Amino acid sequence: MCGIVGYVGGRNAASIILEGLKRLEYRGYDSAGIAMIQGSAITVVKKAGRVEELIKAASKVSLAGTVGIGHTRWATHGGVSDINAHPHLSSDGKFALIHNGVIENYSQIKAFLLGKGFTFRSETDTEVLCNLIAYHYGKESAGRNGQEPFLESVRKALRHVEGTYGIAVLCVDFPGEIVAARKASPLILGVGDGEFIVASDASAIVSQTRNVVYLKDGELVHISAKGFAISTLGQLDVSPVVDRIDWSVEVASMDGYAHFMEKEIFEQPQALENTMRGRFSEDSSTALFGGLNMTPAEFRQIDRFLFCACGSAWHACLVAEHLFERFARVPVEADYASEFRYRNAPLDPQTLFFVISQSGETIDTLAALREAKRKGFRVLAISNVVGSSIAREADGGIYQHVGPEVGVASTKAFTSQLLLASMMALYVARMRDMSFNDGADYVGALKSAPDLVRRALAQAPHIRAVAKRYAQHSDFLFLGRLSLFPIALEGALKLKEISYIHAEGYPAAEMKHGPIALVGEGCPSVFFAPRGEIFNKIVSSMQEIKARKGPVIAIATEGCELPAGLADELITIPDCHEAVLPIIATIPVQLLSYYIAVERGCDVDKPRNLAKSVTVE
Ligand code: G6P
Repeated sequence: MCGIVGYVGGRNAASIILEGLKRLEYRGYDSAGIAMIQGSAITVVKKAGRVEELIKAASKVSLAGTVGIGHTRWATHGGVSDINAHPHLSSDGKFALIHNGVIENYSQIKAFLLGKGFTFRSETDTEVLCNLIAYHYGKESAGRNGQEPFLESVRKALRHVEGTYGIAVLCVDFPGEIVAARKASPLILGVGDGEFIVASDASAIVSQTRNVVYLKDGELVHISAKGFAISTLGQLDVSPVVDRIDWSVEVASMDGYAHFMEKEIFEQPQALENTMRGRFSEDSSTALFGGLNMTPAEFRQIDRFLFCACGSAWHACLVAEHLFERFARVPVEADYASEFRYRNAPLDPQTLFFVISQSGETIDTLAALREAKRKGFRVLAISNVVGSSIAREADGGIYQHVGPEVGVASTKAFTSQLLLASMMALYVARMRDMSFNDGADYVGALKSAPDLVRRALAQAPHIRAVAKRYAQHSDFLFLGRLSLFPIALEGALKLKEISYIHAEGYPAAEMKHGPIALVGEGCPSVFFAPRGEIFNKIVSSMQEIKARKGPVIAIATEGCELPAGLADELITIPDCHEAVLPIIATIPVQLLSYYIAVERGCDVDKPRNLAKSVTVE
């Protein structure tokens, strides 16, 4: 979603903010803007389009000064235009505000402010909040509360706001200060030497400092070059806890690859190693997790698991469902977080709740976690971002340790989630019916995953050639069964996300009940056909497609014989244990989607309308 960055210190704020915005651009990128306090006025430069457009516009204006705020936008209220871009100014020009989130009661507040003589230039909810702050400032500085009118006017305004926000505010009367606050949208304060940087994402901070404070919901931070103070909406002071980020900015650079997505696909062997490191028992017969905050005895009491997530992470939940049921023989449900939070599902009391979120900030997943906790359930989280909201609010969890994922379409984070789902299935299975020997085989299979992924990646040149032949088709089907049905969904999602081709994922046999109507020369079907007991059933489904002149792209196990002439294209994956099959089968569909998108000239890392971390409902 929107990215926020603000700087207070001794250096030129504009260059630090613009660099931060470049790093945040993957979160949202339909427009960008910057505001600086210059003398007795606030200078704003904002442009529809990418951060590059803003940088060009900013180079034509003098942006000297050591305090400023900047924003990349992902539109919610109001179309994509220069006027709707942030920062927004209050109608008296005293305040500038950047905002990530949605002010749900903005129309009532706007009506109130119109009645008080405020004027509006944009269609955004953000400008409404900015004017509400100006309204309270008018009252505060008239002397009733007096002490810190800037901070108090922001606090007062936020008390009237329903919805979500991460904000940073400038005020011309306090030129050396920023006030920032959050509710359900992430906000992190970077603490440097005589300088501070506030941002929605650590990637905008790490090039300046690794020391950070994670703001909590309902907290405000008042920053000047001398220091910062955190307080709550209820005016209580908060003692800050300074954490250290252990990854550097180099990790988030492209290393000679054409796109972050390509880099992240090819670094999966290493990412999987990092996810697994130190997480097997000494006798290599089960998995070990340090942060579950549950004893094995407590784990054995669990009768059901419920997995919730959004997007690709939801596909990982579906794989978890399959692997848990298959190996641990325990019932599992996988739900969309956005549905679960409003569904009021009846839940067995012995249910353990799991949420999966790469960013740890997806608002629907966070809301599902909170709803489960309100109902008294214990919630564990799988997340990649240390210190994220989900990681902090869960009762325990597992970090993915794959480093920052920048490409909007998830790749290495997804396969790492599959790996952790598989390791959890093993952990639970070994507490139930799985024998020592089967556990040891399973661990062996998991340990072989990085090498098997390397072998699957070696098909890249061949997959690129296949992609060239099919890049201009406008419809695709992805068909798989059992644990590869979720990977069919993932393949279809990847393709539509980055190449804008219509694609559907289906259980292969279910294709007869509808999607087959799409089949013809113009609609290729990508089939997962791994070795195994239902291989022949999958072959029959392929025959049905072929009989209707549909091109067949088969992803099959090395050495598996398909009937001659059945597949128009054959992509192979190495033979492997079921515990890692979903991971290995993901690689060809990532590559296929990536190369098709490149062939079509799409902006792979920043696909239209999407955002990396969806922090609005
Ligand atoms: C967005 C991203 C997807 C991601 C989903 C969930 O839609 O574009 O790639 O799978 O959010 O994100 P999370 O951070 O919760 O895993």
